[in-house]
Amino acid sequence: MAQNLVLDGESLVAPGEIRRAARRVAAPDPGHLVVARAELALSLEVSIRQFKSGVEPNAIIERLTDALHQMRRRFHPEVWDAIVPIAQSHPVAHYLHQDPLTRWSFEKPRGYSGDARLLDFIYGRPEIEDAVSSASNLGRSIYAYTRNASSSLAVRERRDILARRVDEIASARPGFTEVLAIAAGHLREGPLSRALGAGAISRWVALDQDPMSVGTVARDFAGTSVQAMNGSVKSLIGGRHALGMFDFIYAAGLYDYLPDAVAVKLTKKCVSMLKPGGTFLFANFSPETDVDGYMETFMNWALLLRSEREMGLIASESASEADLKVSVWSGSNRSIVYCEIQRPQ
Ligand SMILES: C[S@@+](CC[C@H](N)C(=O)[O-])C[C@H]1O[C@@H](n2cnc3c(N)ncnc32)[C@H](O)[C@@H]1O
Repeated sequence: MAQNLVLDGESLVAPGEIRRAARRVAAPDPGHLVVARAELALSLEVSIRQFKSGVEPNAIIERLTDALHQMRRRFHPEVWDAIVPIAQSHPVAHYLHQDPLTRWSFEKPRGYSGDARLLDFIYGRPEIEDAVSSASNLGRSIYAYTRNASSSLAVRERRDILARRVDEIASARPGFTEVLAIAAGHLREGPLSRALGAGAISRWVALDQDPMSVGTVARDFAGTSVQAMNGSVKSLIGGRHALGMFDFIYAAGLYDYLPDAVAVKLTKKCVSMLKPGGTFLFANFSPETDVDGYMETFMNWALLLRSEREMGLIASESASEADLKVSVWSGSNRSIVYCEIQRPQ
């Protein structure tokens, strides 16, 4: 794990935590594990043969991703949990980990899942160009697939939606708009905001648990109204920051690691920090995502998936005031769900 970084224990970002926390239902039929192991072995064997015989990497990974998605859906969660490590230690990983995005996610050099540099591979940022150009030809071909997978398209759309919401909210209060990004990572939506460039944001607090990401934001946004801040879900819920009130608060790439009880506590806290007319937005990967099996196995990147209904439940459990307006909607490929809670004027 990266030095200096103490995880707050509220988000399940350490490898394996999400699977341990997943809800358990009745025990699986023991015969299903035998079937699942056999199906997995066959599918991975086909992939290895395809790699060895020079089949187009795109076609290999697409077939494998779909097979893993179907298995994750069809088998009992405990059966799925039992076959994940089998996939991870299979020799086909040697091919898949030539993709710098898959490898970074699997190896977790920062010690936890979903760090901001991983997101930079998805955003296709200049900062990761060296890692891509030093990958093998096969690795670059696989990256061409993973960076354009449905999940990656949804993450880039999420970044664009955030920048757009900041601009819409700022256009109503030019010069006075106060924004808080929780789990901000590298704040890649910042440069896309016209309001930030035009000086229409009075402060944009970017809070994250990872001092390396906080340092990157402080450096990249020096001279703007962005304030990089080290802080965690725990310190925020515990009221350890005197942050004041905001027009717009948002969390993207965070609720996917928060169990329901923590998600409700954080949502309550965020709603309490909204000015009249202010909005809190949180996003979460949805059960409709079709790359979940590949992410959990070869990327070792497990997420707590939430449906529109489950997002609405978090909002209703958190927002006790009757006059709060809640809206829930899905992104264009339905891989990510959004929930917005607005305080009346
Ligand atoms: C998937 S990244 C998302 C970054 C950014 N919001 C984006 O959309 O590009 C997740 C971020 O959440 C941060 N994070 C995870 N758990 C956290 C916690 N408990 N408190 C504060 N930040 C946390 C990580 O450090 C990481 O920067």
